[in-house]
Amino acid sequence: MSITTGDFRAKITASTLLEKKQRQEIITCLTAYDYPSARLVDEAGIDIVLVGDSLAQVMLGYENTLPVTMREMLHHTRAVRRGVKRAFLVADMPFASYHLSQRESLRNAARFIKEAGAEAVKIEGGEKRAHLVERMVEAEIPVVGHIGLTPQSVHAMGGYKVQGKTLQAIEQLMHDALALERAGACLVVLEGIPREVAAMITRELEVPTIGIGAGPECDGQVLVFHDLLGLTFAPPAKFVRRYADVGAVIGNALLAFKDDVKSGGYPSDAESYHLPKETLAALEAIAERKHAVPV
Ligand code: KIV
Repeated sequence: MSITTGDFRAKITASTLLEKKQRQEIITCLTAYDYPSARLVDEAGIDIVLVGDSLAQVMLGYENTLPVTMREMLHHTRAVRRGVKRAFLVADMPFASYHLSQRESLRNAARFIKEAGAEAVKIEGGEKRAHLVERMVEAEIPVVGHIGLTPQSVHAMGGYKVQGKTLQAIEQLMHDALALERAGACLVVLEGIPREVAAMITRELEVPTIGIGAGPECDGQVLVFHDLLGLTFAPPAKFVRRYADVGAVIGNALLAFKDDVKSGGYPSDAESYHLPKETLAALEAIAERKHAVPV
């Protein structure tokens, strides 16, 4: 058993995240979808790794997050689990895995914990999911809420639009956030809402809020790994800050490889395996005998 010491490498849990909010220490969160991205994010000291259903778009090339399945989410979560040692590992429940029956929703949530090693599941929706959150928490499944612009409701919302812009919508968002907290959610993601509204909710909640397109007053910030690194193909949303253009780095490396292969510059002799000297000599002797002209 290891004892949590509060140092940089100490394991992050739901309780340490709550303590961070109480100490007003900003929480960092990034998505990861496979073993290398998980290792890079974890080793950078990011607090929360989220296996987001955004993988449907950035990893699998779907138009939205709706088609990704339980099987695919579990597969990616397992890979991420192998790469994460310190961060709190959250897995997104995919569309329709928690919308149909309570029994099925609980079973699906439990699979993320039991079969894939997630430490919490994230579900979208506020007040209307509060009862389900309560049941999950009762079943020892930590839950992260997600309100505001909830991508799984893209059709119901009529597109990806900033939410919470009217007084009525603001009141509903506040109800949603409080209902999730009362139901036992350990974190609440606020996506695509005005910063003033996110600030109000953050002040009102005891549990940490994690913002994405929700301004700087949230208790923490999350971005999609591929957005931050410039690995996406569509123009990024307003809130995305690109910290690197890894897409261009990869593109240039691929072109250089193609040119080297075509010009015979790759592989070089130094990049080739060689026979031991004696075997080579024997092989040459055989070849010489074969080609010797009989007299
Ligand atoms: O799927 C995802 O990546 C998310 C984050 C954007 C919060 O839900």
